[in-house]
Amino acid sequence: GKGDVYIIFQVEVLDATTKEQLCFLDKVDPHSTIGDIKSLFYKSCAQWYPARQALRLDTRGKSLRDDEILQNLPVGTTATMYFKDLGPQLGWTTVFFAEYIGALLTYLVFFFRVPYIYSHTYALTSSPHPVVTLACVCHTFHYVKRLMETIFVHRFSHGTMPLRTIVKNCAYYWGFSAWLAYYINHPLYTPPSYGELQVKYALFTFAMCEIGNLSIHMSLSNLRTDGELVRRFPTPTKNPFTWLFFFVSCPNYTYEVGAWLSFTVMTQCLPVAIYTLFGFIQMTIWAKVKHRAYIREFKDYPSVRTAIIPLIL
Ligand SMILES: *[C@@H]1O[C@H](CO)[C@@H](O)[C@H](O)[C@H]1NC(C)=O
Ligand SMILES: *[C@@H]1O[C@H](CO)[C@@H](O)[C@H](O)[C@H]1NC(C)=O
Repeated sequence: GKGDVYIIFQVEVLDATTKEQLCFLDKVDPHSTIGDIKSLFYKSCAQWYPARQALRLDTRGKSLRDDEILQNLPVGTTATMYFKDLGPQLGWTTVFFAEYIGALLTYLVFFFRVPYIYSHTYALTSSPHPVVTLACVCHTFHYVKRLMETIFVHRFSHGTMPLRTIVKNCAYYWGFSAWLAYYINHPLYTPPSYGELQVKYALFTFAMCEIGNLSIHMSLSNLRTDGELVRRFPTPTKNPFTWLFFFVSCPNYTYEVGAWLSFTVMTQCLPVAIYTLFGFIQMTIWAKVKHRAYIREFKDYPSVRTAIIPLIL
């Protein structure tokens, strides 16, 4: 080029706890990202693949993001970074499969009354109440739909999750699924007080919520792939199910809660209500975080929108 001095960086990686040097990278391009540095580090220290690594400038500081660029960091030409092992990681797709397939199969084990769950006279029998079969269909459909969404609609970044979190999530999903299924498929289960009418209404709202949820997923996914450089917030489209965007920031969660409420009404079963409540609390927390982020990011964000429940929450 114009004969400018091309500065080359050196990066030293130390263990965050022992301060022991783990590797020394000579001749690093100043435009390298933290992601690149992780790959270089991985080449010399093959036991930690990039997703497992957290790199910091300070032993107690924040971990650096993968897209941060070396020359923009407050370091000299010899940078010292502290490494922390995040433990084994799995890709998100694997995680969702484990969670959803697990929940789905767990439910079916109870539906088919596999021996040793209920008294042996009921082993492999089926419930005389049609609502029990319907509930199983709905539950199965719900998770099959999620799996389909994971495969076809979601566009995952190459995100990963620590193994420990996965074990926790699976325990939550599988555990609750087993708990609900145990009661709904129990030989002593009693169908809803208002009989068929209650079941039909609940089925209707359940189906509406599932379609609504899918519509939201698709519109969010389209928003991400439009390839525009300007970031936008999601808005209602021609599909009436997305019109909830007039009122809330996260209609996907509103529909999800609606689906579980419908399932509660359909089965009239206390554990389902408790599960719905837990889900509602968790989703409200996520929705509020997202809602605040939208308000912060977009000056023209519609002020009538609330996080999850129109006009209320
Ligand atoms: C739900 O919608 C919000 C924004 O509307 C989005 O950020 C979030 O990722 C969605 N949740 C899932 C699990 O897709
Ligand atoms: C609805 O959306 C949530 C969050 O985006 C997602 O995790 C879930 O799979 C969907 N639930 C339903 C009711 O299909």
